Amino acid sequence: MSKLKIAALAGDGIGPEVMREAIKVLQAVEKKFSVQIEVQEAPVGWAGIDAAGKALPDATLALCKSSDAILFGSVGLPDRDPTIPKEERPERAALLRLRKEFGLFANLRPVRLPPELSDACPLSRERYRDGIDLLVVRELTGGLYFGQPKKTEKFSDGGQQYLRATDTMVYTTPEIERIAHVAFKAAKSRRKKVTSIDKANVLENGVLWRDVVTSVGKQYPDIALDHMFVDNAAMQLVLRPTQFDVMLCENMFGDILSDEAAALAGSLGMLPSASLGATSGKRTFGFYEPAGGTAPDIAGKNLANPIAQILSAALMLRYSFGLNDAGAAIEGAVGKAISSGYRTGDILSPADSNAKRVGTSGMGEVIAACV
Ligand code: IPM
Ligand code: MG
Repeated sequence: MSKLKIAALAGDGIGPEVMREAIKVLQAVEKKFSVQIEVQEAPVGWAGIDAAGKALPDATLALCKSSDAILFGSVGLPDRDPTIPKEERPERAALLRLRKEFGLFANLRPVRLPPELSDACPLSRERYRDGIDLLVVRELTGGLYFGQPKKTEKFSDGGQQYLRATDTMVYTTPEIERIAHVAFKAAKSRRKKVTSIDKANVLENGVLWRDVVTSVGKQYPDIALDHMFVDNAAMQLVLRPTQFDVMLCENMFGDILSDEAAALAGSLGMLPSASLGATSGKRTFGFYEPAGGTAPDIAGKNLANPIAQILSAALMLRYSFGLNDAGAAIEGAVGKAISSGYRTGDILSPADSNAKRVGTSGMGEVIAACV
């Protein structure tokens, strides 16, 4: 029986309480399938600053390096200690650093609106009809997030003093190629359609993105490829979300559009994600996190929806360990909890008389029991 070594980095805000539920569900998986899952927890984010003076403590990074996969909660509390410089705050010093450090260039965010949750969708029924089922493939280690120069400097113009901030959007051909391959391969086991998002009418990056994606697409003759400007894509998502299968995006466009897509699927609390690097041997090192953030307003109140964290654990079993049955068992358990009417506040609709309101731990328990 192989042993899976997982680093669990719960982080801040609702991170610890949703992580607790994901670990509960993994323990249920361990009982049912013949796998041994070793979960080791370590502080990150403000929890890392509190414990060891750094958003990504050395011991936490070392644990990640010696693990097979990272299950991550969320980091960043915008209201905490403004004296900590932006480069040392959790978003940049922990989350972005981990993405870069492990070369996690491919971020997959599956968005599904199950029929039972259609009341939680902000669109009118004729817009989503048979349900929303799309995958945002977001490039995660390039673009505006990481391009250099990146700085704020004093600047003077005609005797006037200003501050000037610069971020740089930069992509190379190989960076676009590798993420395009991820999108086309993902489309093969889905509805065989890739919509590549860019701003080729204005940005140099957009022109290169479109050219490179088009030429990679020639290697996948069975996949339909179309291109869409990002502003139009934002609009199309609310007008006709069912047209999308795989949405291929650069880093920042993917950040924005994945939040928008998640809201269509009822709640950000339902959106898991997988961030993958290169594959070595049979295993792909991966980082799995809910896309929703720390939600400080509801943290510690047993209100948060743990489903995104739990589904992230399912993605981990699938992508890093090839345990598709175990991943499917978790996804099926989530589906069962929802179809049995269990709802956290974010997905609770007053119109649904069948709904049973539960807290974070209640939802975790129901899902663990359904595995
Ligand atoms: C996400 C988040 C992060 C991002 C933040 C917390 C830095 O919004 O994973 O989508 O912008 O990538
Ligand atoms: Mg985001």
